[in-house]
Amino acid sequence: MALIVLAADKGAPGVTTAATALAAVWPRPVLLAECDPAGGDLAYRLPAADGGMLNPGRGLLTLGATARRGISPEQVHEHTQKIIGGLDVLAGLTHGEQAAGLTWMWGPLGRALAAVPRADVIADCGRLGAHPQLGDLIGEAELVVLFTRASLDHVAHLRERLAIMPKGPELGVVVIADPRQYRSSIDDVRRIVGGETAFVAGLAHDPKGAELLRGQWGGRLDRSLLIRTARELAGKLSSRVRVP
Ligand SMILES: Nc1ncnc2c1ncn2[C@@H]1O[C@H](COP(=O)(O)OP(=O)(O)O)[C@@H](O)[C@H]1O
Ligand SMILES: [Mg+2]
Repeated sequence: MALIVLAADKGAPGVTTAATALAAVWPRPVLLAECDPAGGDLAYRLPAADGGMLNPGRGLLTLGATARRGISPEQVHEHTQKIIGGLDVLAGLTHGEQAAGLTWMWGPLGRALAAVPRADVIADCGRLGAHPQLGDLIGEAELVVLFTRASLDHVAHLRERLAIMPKGPELGVVVIADPRQYRSSIDDVRRIVGGETAFVAGLAHDPKGAELLRGQWGGRLDRSLLIRTARELAGKLSSRVRVP
């Protein structure tokens, strides 16, 4: 169905955490794909559906190894694993050096992910800038969401980044904001970058929720601010991409 790219310009604002939280509450079938050239984190962070460990070697790396001649959308699921909650995950590279041999992959991967049958794909692309070829994947997305913290240095860099993003996909910004200044942080960022983007939305900065997301998912996580705001955000994002 639709490819939704999540990324950051600077630092580690919480893209992987947001991608996981959004996929957990996404209102349609979804696949979480770790497309961060710097390497994936999910295999080490999240338990498999059977309570064991995910296989960190199975995912983007095995897909890349078998797909030299191109990647078909149907093939993607042969390399995914189910995590806790039944969510399908395409685990990322195990270290950043692997990306050097896979520069050819991002364009074909983007086209395949955008055409995966019967599921939206949330792609965690990590931090932008170091791997220009990742633009080939980003250009295939229907929606690109850049995450930022609310501090001025982050937002100033974000504004520069927005100006050089691939034209085509709809572009939005999500502020990971302190719950005590939630609305005002979002409004501040909107004032600075609002002209360059389709929307500016928020996700709670919630260390407890982020911690719970790494353990056994349950009622406490469900009631956390992180998940409550993720649910609102997932509704917003999913309504921006077409349903076939
Ligand atoms: N919404 C959030 N609230 C509080 N802490 C967060 C949030 N998102 C991420 N973190 C914390 O920030 C650190 C980096 O998160 P991560 O999701 O790996 O960032 P990124 O993918 O942008 O590098 C982790 O320690 C994580 O627990
Ligand atoms: Mg990450």
